[in-house]
Amino acid sequence: MAISEKRLLQLAKKHGTPMLVIDHDIIRANYLRLRKYLPRVGLYFAIKANPEAQIIKTLYPLDAGFDVASWQEYQAVLNNVPKKELKGKNLEEFIWDKIIVANTIKPASTLRQLTNFNTLMTYDNADELQKIRRHCPDAGLICRLRVQNVGSMVELSSKFGVEPGEAADLIEQAFKIGLSVEGLSFHVGSQCVNIDNYIKALDAAAEIFKEVNRRGYKLRLLNIGGGFPVPYDENVPDFKKFAQQLGHEIDRLFPEEVEIVAEPGRYIVATAAALVVSVVGRSLRDGKMVYYVDDGVYHTLSGVVFDHCQYHFNAFRKGEKQLSAVVGPTCDAFDTISTAEYLPQLAIDDLLYVRNIGAYSNASSTNFNGFPGAKIVNINA
Ligand SMILES: Cc1ncc(COP(=O)(O)O)c(C=O)c1O
Repeated sequence: MAISEKRLLQLAKKHGTPMLVIDHDIIRANYLRLRKYLPRVGLYFAIKANPEAQIIKTLYPLDAGFDVASWQEYQAVLNNVPKKELKGKNLEEFIWDKIIVANTIKPASTLRQLTNFNTLMTYDNADELQKIRRHCPDAGLICRLRVQNVGSMVELSSKFGVEPGEAADLIEQAFKIGLSVEGLSFHVGSQCVNIDNYIKALDAAAEIFKEVNRRGYKLRLLNIGGGFPVPYDENVPDFKKFAQQLGHEIDRLFPEEVEIVAEPGRYIVATAAALVVSVVGRSLRDGKMVYYVDDGVYHTLSGVVFDHCQYHFNAFRKGEKQLSAVVGPTCDAFDTISTAEYLPQLAIDDLLYVRNIGAYSNASSTNFNGFPGAKIVNINA
């Protein structure tokens, strides 16, 4: 299913490097695998993982919704949903169903832009409730819980979520000032290989559903966030079993009338993209070959920093492998992608490629030193 070496080479000849190839057949397959193994769960693609517009166009016809974090992401969805889909439909109804603003802290200016869209949005503190009451009183609120993120590659609980013991009070507070709380959300951390994080989060959420009910209010929605683990290596648990266990816990704890949704990002896009780079320089330093390539940690390989992800390079050239380092093109020594890669002896203009680089890569690319990010090439779109 992965994009073949031959195809990558052909595309690099045609488009040049750095080049990020996104295969939309893989995006569809990943999305449909999630649907298959978590049939009760509605999916909102977290576009922060990869904001390429074509991905929105690919997922929309498969009935996907979208998780957005900013007004810019919100507009990206509206601008890329096929216009014929909007025709004859009430825009507000369409949005209610299709977009969750899943950033618990929204600047007042963003809330003002969202005023006329009575959209779903998350919150986790009392100040946010006051801002929402002032600017978006008709929003549907989702209270985000702080949950265990043990063992996840990217930890989120230090920054987001109300303590479960305080959640019922925060929900009651929202109802009392005239707002409408639809349900709860949590995020177990990105690339979560520890099913226990989900199990504990679901238990905590179920208790809060009961407590809120005891206080005379009703929640109807549970958002289980993202975090679904991508098979970057053989230590990652088998997703089918992982999802079955998750689905079983959801069914055990939440009656059918509770709508369950998720906001997967990484799982849908990570395996769908490969990056091809060129060697633009080389030097022998401390007895080790250092290859300078035309993309780095300030650009498509930014996941090394922001995503705590270690990428591995593959060479098209064959030959005996030796310990090498691969660094980016900018003037900063921090722009070091890997200090330990086993690569054959490479020449200037040789190409290298990295697989499974579709998540949190081009999403966090900068223009540092004036180098542009990789050209994005969509295939099977
Ligand atoms: C609120 C929220 N939802 C969804 C996601 C997507 O998570 P993942 O890429 O692990 O599926 C993130 C990632 O940071 C997030 O912060």
